[in-house]
Amino acid sequence: MRQTVNVSEEESARQLSFAGLLKDELDERKQKENREFTYHIETFGCQMNAKDSEKLAGILETIGYKETESENADIVLYNTCTVRENANNRVYGRIGYLGKLKKKKPDMKIILCGCMMQEAHVVEKIKQSYRFVDIIFGTHNIYKLAELLYENENKGDGGICIEILPDADRIVENLPSARKYSFKGGVNIMYGCNNFCSYCIVPYVRGRERSRRPEDIINEIREMTKNGVSEIMLLGQNVNSYGKGLEEDINFAKLLEKVCTVEGVKRIRFMTPHPKDLTDDIIEVIAREQKICNHVHLPMQSGSSRLLKLMNRHYTKEDYLALTEKIKARIPGVALTTDIIVGFPGETEEDFLETLDVVKKVRFSSAFTFIYSKRTGTPAAKMPDQVPEDVVKQRFDRLLKAISDISSELTDEGVGSIENVLVEEPSTQKEGYVTGRLANNLLVHFEGDESLLGSYVDVKLLEAKGFYYLGKRV
Ligand code: 5AD
Ligand code: SF4
Repeated sequence: MRQTVNVSEEESARQLSFAGLLKDELDERKQKENREFTYHIETFGCQMNAKDSEKLAGILETIGYKETESENADIVLYNTCTVRENANNRVYGRIGYLGKLKKKKPDMKIILCGCMMQEAHVVEKIKQSYRFVDIIFGTHNIYKLAELLYENENKGDGGICIEILPDADRIVENLPSARKYSFKGGVNIMYGCNNFCSYCIVPYVRGRERSRRPEDIINEIREMTKNGVSEIMLLGQNVNSYGKGLEEDINFAKLLEKVCTVEGVKRIRFMTPHPKDLTDDIIEVIAREQKICNHVHLPMQSGSSRLLKLMNRHYTKEDYLALTEKIKARIPGVALTTDIIVGFPGETEEDFLETLDVVKKVRFSSAFTFIYSKRTGTPAAKMPDQVPEDVVKQRFDRLLKAISDISSELTDEGVGSIENVLVEEPSTQKEGYVTGRLANNLLVHFEGDESLLGSYVDVKLLEAKGFYYLGKRV
């Protein structure tokens, strides 16, 4: 069934008018109190949340708040993640701490949003135990921050202002965004996920898949490049199913090609593709277009075909191996990275050995490894044979060791080569050094100053340090 996507340009104008009203009020307060007003955003979880936080920051900056590192701010906003249970527990602890800060600073606004807030039991717990929270909203209405703040300040009865939508009613375009880096940035190409992997809560908290119109994506990228951005990261829970439900005949491979044509774009990355949808045309476009980085993050989750079936992943161990072989053959020097879950219900030693086997065969340059976390409401939560904690921990350590051995070998192999890197940050490893990112996503630290930030330079890789290099500008 074709599902049409509702796009609203008027909504951003409506939200900006709320931001204007709040700005007038804030200007008065600034004059009266003769000080700046600040905001602090704490982001938990993935790149999608990081991108949402940039949009939230964009709205707060439009109102006139200034960012601060400290949680002792006028507005503290937690953008939460619920992929794993322990992330939730951490957030509760920190909300408790915010409550103590607020006792000393009663005008402080505490705002909670993001994936965790899409779960009814979480909102219930906050209503019961953390009544000092001011505003709660979910993943589908982040564009409404200004309106909710306005309501809370002007119509509020002192209670928590809560708005959670069960699914997205529309895609709101043209909102401001305060990017973390001036030279690189993420662009949402689609929202939500339809895959329902049996362990994953994302489809329940981020709703059904919706793709943005290609012209909206390209316009945003044009705007970014005009402002100095040269590296673009295309973002979505399942980027390679991009295009479904749109009027235009487009898919992810065609979108990649379009992005390559935008003037000023030097590097393109994307996150996250699903192995089942990584078609040949996508591999070909990555191989052909020099601007697309030679790095593919391809979540495998498990190497056991039996578990992959229970996970609802729609591929087998053999499919995954064949796919990675094809990618390596078509894109020389490609770096492959992955996500792996250890301790999925019923995982046996044999299943785990299959995972280790794939790790060794594919030779991932790095991997995000996760201990399975039972998420209420997902099919896996009801599966029998949850694996005992000590067994999981022991397997997890073996997996980490295998991955780190391989990534060290791969980094060693790179020593001596000259690579073009994007200089991203002053180095955290060494005074007087900066950090550059290779196309394959690895980092190199080399002598240089902040004037290099955002530029592309050639660096010789001199020494491998496990996950990164020390190098020298050439
Ligand atoms: N337990 C552990 N890891 C999970 N992930 C998603 N859901 C869970 C869960 N319930 C991991 C997957 C996914 C990554 C973003 O988070 O590996 O690719
Ligand atoms: Fe979760 Fe699977 Fe969707 Fe990724 S593809 S967000 S793991 S349901």
